[in-house]
Amino acid sequence: MDLSTQYTEFLELLRVFRPDTIVHFAEQRSAPYSMKSSAHRMYTVRNNTSVTHNVLAAMHESALSIHLVHLGTMGVYGYDTCDAVIPEGYLDVRVKNKDDQWVDAKILYPTKPGSIYHMTKSIDQLFFQFYHQNDRLNITDLHQGIVWGWETNETNMHPKLSNRFDYDGEYGTVLNRFIVQACAEQPLTVYGTGGQTRAFIHIENSIDCIEHAIEHPPSADSPKVRIINQMTECHRVRDIANLVCTVVPGAECMLVDNPRKEAAENELVVCNDYIGTSAIAPVLLDSEAIRRICEKCKDYTVNTQQIQSKSKW
Ligand SMILES: NC(=O)c1ccc[n+]([C@@H]2O[C@H](COP(=O)([O-])OP(=O)(O)OC[C@H]3O[C@@H](n4cnc5c(N)ncnc54)[C@H](O)[C@@H]3O)[C@@H](O)[C@H]2O)c1
Repeated sequence: MDLSTQYTEFLELLRVFRPDTIVHFAEQRSAPYSMKSSAHRMYTVRNNTSVTHNVLAAMHESALSIHLVHLGTMGVYGYDTCDAVIPEGYLDVRVKNKDDQWVDAKILYPTKPGSIYHMTKSIDQLFFQFYHQNDRLNITDLHQGIVWGWETNETNMHPKLSNRFDYDGEYGTVLNRFIVQACAEQPLTVYGTGGQTRAFIHIENSIDCIEHAIEHPPSADSPKVRIINQMTECHRVRDIANLVCTVVPGAECMLVDNPRKEAAENELVVCNDYIGTSAIAPVLLDSEAIRRICEKCKDYTVNTQQIQSKSKW
């Protein structure tokens, strides 16, 4: 079903199936893809905003009590954060009232998306805010870091359950791409100085967090959409590239012109109190985790032509 166009069918599905939770992944989910051309920009905006709005409108029209768990991104905050700790979705601010006195308020963190893809996730946040305040829909928005890793406890149960592992320039996330480059005896292409600091999460923890959010929905009278920073650690891109080089004999980094418009170097400090208190055991990045992925890569042939991103902005 194409959720951007098949609203009626989706509404009917809700009425028949009567879910208590919807996990919403369904978006064009690549920043480089969204920046390839005007047509790619338009498709990304049309697809992503239509899907999210159709899901919300159908939840409202169905009048069912459904908890929506959306996979959003840390990228909505942007990476020009003046050394401020990134809060979980909302910023505490002071504003002047009509009597010229300061009053406290909480607002959605002002977004600063770095691509059209990230912009659509920023627009999603406004849809969520509106449907929560106007129609009392129950929503959790998971602001997820960059996912790395290949397997989860479930997919490890049988080889045929193996996950897809994207390593190409559009869909492969940075650490997965570096590992495949190292295994294919290609230089690890680090954009710019590699000083970009980003938030990361292992795929196992991504699934843990979604499961936790489903099992612990926000209360129906929650004053705001629940936003959770779904990340476990921050690293500079060059540091993760260097770590891969220490694990794979002969691997080396190569600095290349950054095809993206982004700060060459940035700090990133993220509040992830929710995950910290939810008893999820973090799977952190280390040599052993990289070695295990390299082992699995040996079972496959790498198409090295696909690794470089063809998108520039
Ligand atoms: N992988 C990451 O590092 C990462 C980081 C932050 C957020 N996310 C978000 O997590 C979600 C899952 O991403 P993923 O990387 O696991 O990719 P994925 O490919 O597994 O999930 C995206 C899915 O959305 C579907 N989809 C897109 N448009 C649709 C439409 N119009 N109708 C129906 N289905 C549609 C695709 O077919 C695909 O199955 C995405 O929303 C993505 O933006 C991913």
